[in-house]
Formats: sequence, C-alpha cells, structure tokens
Amino acid sequence: MKIPTYLLLLITLSQIILNPIPSVADSAYPSPYGIETTTSCQSTGADDLIPVRREVYGSGRIFDITHRLSPDMPSWGLEDGLGQFLWLPNSMKNGSLANNSEMKLPTHFGTHIDAPGHVYDHYFDAGFDVDTLDLQVLNGPALLVDVPRDKNLTADVMQSLHIPKGIKRVLFRTLNTDRRLMFKKAFDTSYVGFMKDGAQWLVDNTDIKLVGIDYLSVAAFDDLIPSHHVFLKSREIILVEGLKLDDIEAGIYTVHCLHLRMLGAEGSPIRCILIKKHWR
Ligand SMILES: *[C@@H]1O[C@H](CO)[C@@H](O)[C@H](O)[C@H]1NC(C)=O
Ligand SMILES: *[C@@H]1O[C@H](CO)[C@@H](O)[C@H](O)[C@H]1NC(C)=O
Ligand SMILES: *[C@@H]1O[C@H](CO)[C@@H](O)[C@H](O)[C@H]1NC(C)=O
Repeated sequence: MKIPTYLLLLITLSQIILNPIPSVADSAYPSPYGIETTTSCQSTGADDLIPVRREVYGSGRIFDITHRLSPDMPSWGLEDGLGQFLWLPNSMKNGSLANNSEMKLPTHFGTHIDAPGHVYDHYFDAGFDVDTLDLQVLNGPALLVDVPRDKNLTADVMQSLHIPKGIKRVLFRTLNTDRRLMFKKAFDTSYVGFMKDGAQWLVDNTDIKLVGIDYLSVAAFDDLIPSHHVFLKSREIILVEGLKLDDIEAGIYTVHCLHLRMLGAEGSPIRCILIKKHWR
C-alpha cells in the first residue's frame, strides 16, 4: 500500500506527541518504565507503524525480566549512567542501503552474567569465560523469592528463607526492586546484596547453582570481592545480576537465560525471561 506523504507525516507527528515509546501493560503488570501504555496486546492496525514494547507476553505467562538497555541506566561506579552505547555509522538517511548500528558496552552492565574469571585471575587465564557456562544451570525451574527488606543477605537471612534442598535456581527480590535502583541513573553503593557469610551459607547448605539478584552485583558493596569469591570458587554457581523483578508474584517459574557467547569474556549481557508454570 502506498501511503501519501501527508499521512506519513501525520502518523509520525502523532507518534511523537501521543506515544513516545508505546508499550503494553495492564494493571496486574504495569510497565516498569513508567511509559504511556496501551491496555491490550492487540496491534492497533497493520499500517500504523507504532512499535509495541512489552514487559509481559502470552497473556501474562511470559515475563521479561531483562532491563532494556538505554543510555540512562546505571553503570558500575558512574554518576551519569551508561551514556551513549549505540552508533549508526551507516544510515539510509545518508545514502546507505541499510541502517547498520554499532554498539560498545561494558560486559558487566544492565542485566548480565558473571563467569568465574571475573574475580579469579587464574580462572581467567585458564579460559573460564562466559562461553564455558552451563546452559542447564541457566534454564529450568526457578524460585522467585522475596527477602526481608531491612537487611543485606547474611547467613541469618538465608537461613530464614527456608529454601528447600533440591532448588537449583533462585532469584532474590530485595529492597533494590522497591527502591527502583536499576531505573536510576546514578550508581548507588547502598544496594542490597550478599554478605560473605550469606554467600557461604548458600554454598554450604543449599543446592542453588543459579543466583539471581535485582541490582548490578549479587555481592553487597561492603563485601564485594569476598562474596564473589565464595560464589565463583567452585565454578559451579552462575551469577545473574541486574534482573528486573518488578510486579511479578513470588513463586516457582521456569527461567530461561541466554547470554552472548563471547570467547574470552568474563561477563556478558544476558536475556532472561520467566515463564509461569502450567503453560498450556
Ligand atoms: C552517515 O550518517 C551517520 C549519522 O546518521 C554518520 O555518523 C556517518 O558518519 C555518516 N556517513 C557518511 C559516509 O556520511
Ligand atoms: C535509518 O536510520 C535513520 C537515522 O539515520 C533513522 O532515522 C531511520 O529510522 C532508519 N530507517 C530505518 C528503516 O530503520
Ligand atoms: C546493605 O549494605 C550496604 C553496604 O554494602 C549498606 O549501604 C546498606 O545500607 C545495607 N542495606 C540494608 C538494608 O541493610
């Protein structure tokens, strides 16, 4: 169909005015990005050129628990967020056949994964990069659990959660989610994470192999390296950090996490989703 130019202009204008970044949300799962939303998953028509952005798919069964990469998201140690990470060296606007972007990102950024080489230099040298991580750990039944909001993740807190033996994947939702820290540009050292004794308790007393958390590090800032050391020593535990766990009921899901297969990298951005059990 050929669309007249004035119509295109109108569409573009209304897009900018009414719906800067449209997304789909409902009252049960509001858009965590606080963006103007539409109320259903239906497209408003084939020719309207309005991209739909969602946090939830499949009528509430699939949750995207990955943060959207944007210049305003927090970056480790920085006040001003990540900043520009996408460039468009070839664009159709200036004569290229297609648009081809380039990106430059820290590997431990947004929703991401840590490989053992992150805090152990001899593992790094030996090649324990993200390409060596076990996809079976990253995919399977997972528990989303709320932790007490008034403490970091100490041994006492871990014990109080009564996570049954046999549970292999746990996503810990903390005060970080309530404080919307991943939506704040400035890096905040007061985030909640594992203290060394909490990490040790988990290693000694549970079968957990996937540890997920809702800010940039599983380890509290005060125990940054010690907690990482405890988790990554055995090379059996995988850390997924910066998860988006807003507005999802605690409970058992199936998690699917897939990172980039980068040779030599001790970290990688990762895409994670949760799927409700009893999928039909
Ligand atoms: C094409 O445009 C992009 C910006 O859209 C610019 O970065 C790039 O240098 C331009 N390339 C040429 C060959 O003019
Ligand atoms: C191509 O790149 C330009 C930026 O130079 C962008 O505004 C435009 O939307 C892109 N076109 C397509 C078809 O993606
Ligand atoms: C957790 O630890 C950080 C330091 O790593 C501290 O700033 C923060 O207040 C602690 N949070 C709670 C809830 O105790």
